Amino acid sequence: MAEATALVEVSNLAKYFDVSKPWLNRVLERDKRQILKAVDGVSFSIPKGRTFSLVGESGCGKSTVARTVVGLYQPTKGKTVFDGVDTADLKSRRAQRPFRRRVQMIFQDPYASLNPRWRVRDIIAEPIRAHGLLSGQDVDDRVDDLLTHVKLTPQDGAKFPHEFSGGQRQRISIARALASSSEFLVCDEPTSALDVSVQAQILNLMKDLQRELDLTYLFISHNLAVVYHVSDWVGVMYLGRLVEWAEKRTLFRFPRHPYTRMLLDTIPDLDMTGRERVPVAGEVPNPINPPSGCPFHPRCAFANERCQSELPKALPTAEGTMVACHAVEEDRLPLEDRKTVPVLAGGNDGAGV
Ligand SMILES: Nc1ncnc2c1ncn2[C@@H]1O[C@H](COP(=O)(O)OP(=O)(O)OP(=O)(O)O)[C@@H](O)[C@H]1O
Ligand code: SF4
Ligand SMILES: [Mg+2]
Repeated sequence: MAEATALVEVSNLAKYFDVSKPWLNRVLERDKRQILKAVDGVSFSIPKGRTFSLVGESGCGKSTVARTVVGLYQPTKGKTVFDGVDTADLKSRRAQRPFRRRVQMIFQDPYASLNPRWRVRDIIAEPIRAHGLLSGQDVDDRVDDLLTHVKLTPQDGAKFPHEFSGGQRQRISIARALASSSEFLVCDEPTSALDVSVQAQILNLMKDLQRELDLTYLFISHNLAVVYHVSDWVGVMYLGRLVEWAEKRTLFRFPRHPYTRMLLDTIPDLDMTGRERVPVAGEVPNPINPPSGCPFHPRCAFANERCQSELPKALPTAEGTMVACHAVEEDRLPLEDRKTVPVLAGGNDGAGV
């Protein structure tokens, strides 16, 4: 993504989890240590004011990327550079403060992320006070302003989270995330738990706020319609790796990787171009024991011997896509020009993976 200076640069990020049994069990049962490579060598950058989305089937590592980028997990390898600063260099709590203020996360379940015993006003005011941004009446004025920004009312501040609908609760989460004047929001399936009509409202609100406040988003979803609606760039993940990434329209129109094509095959053909909607075939292998070579090879119709032994490197295509696939590199996979794009509407079932 070379169009503007990146606010966020993720390089070769990896996060491994030790999922071994306890030592004694391993000794008695002669089991080896087991390492799960949830994320393994992911790189992307996001210019200020833009949205990069991650899409892929359940368990491919989307949330782990999100949590590692915001600092909830320590990376096993690689780094995240935010506004020119390597986050690994922020050793003390004091040094981390500006990063913690400027970067916020929005989760799928707003109810779980809002303290049920606090009034909404206090929930939104908490980051303002914690970062010492304002005091006294100014805090209340700022909370009123934030509530209005997310299309709630200042009177809503006196209520508790359980008095709101799911969509309204997600608005409260967004107001809270913005309270510290954050610039980078990592949104992990923020609308997946919502009704489709409400989903569109929240996504449109997020897009409006992005334009108004020049926000940068890392957006995570398994829903292709949602991803198409919100993104500038899209990265497709499979078993902890990015297998293809490109500008949104290029990715949806000229998908190159067989896995991306498989995901896009699930999009309903609303334009009646004659393309059949195909359900996703096969299952994601166990990440503790991934297939050799290209991890997608057991599910891939184009796999050859090389695919079984050699991990494909991501290479650029003439269309401006980055794709990690031997068949694309060997020119064995003809370019497809797809006309079907997912539509985000109340009637659309939101093609999902
Ligand atoms: N804390 C953890 N300890 C051990 N394994 C983990 C941990 N967190 C995630 N994993 C494993 O890492 C892999 C990636 O998980 P992750 O939650 O990042 O996937 P995801 O793409 O967000 O999936 P979903 O779409 O279901 O949310 C999975 O195999 C998961 O079981
Ligand atoms: S590298 Fe081989 S197995 Fe992997 S997606 Fe490409 S053709 Fe299929
Ligand atoms: Mg997840």
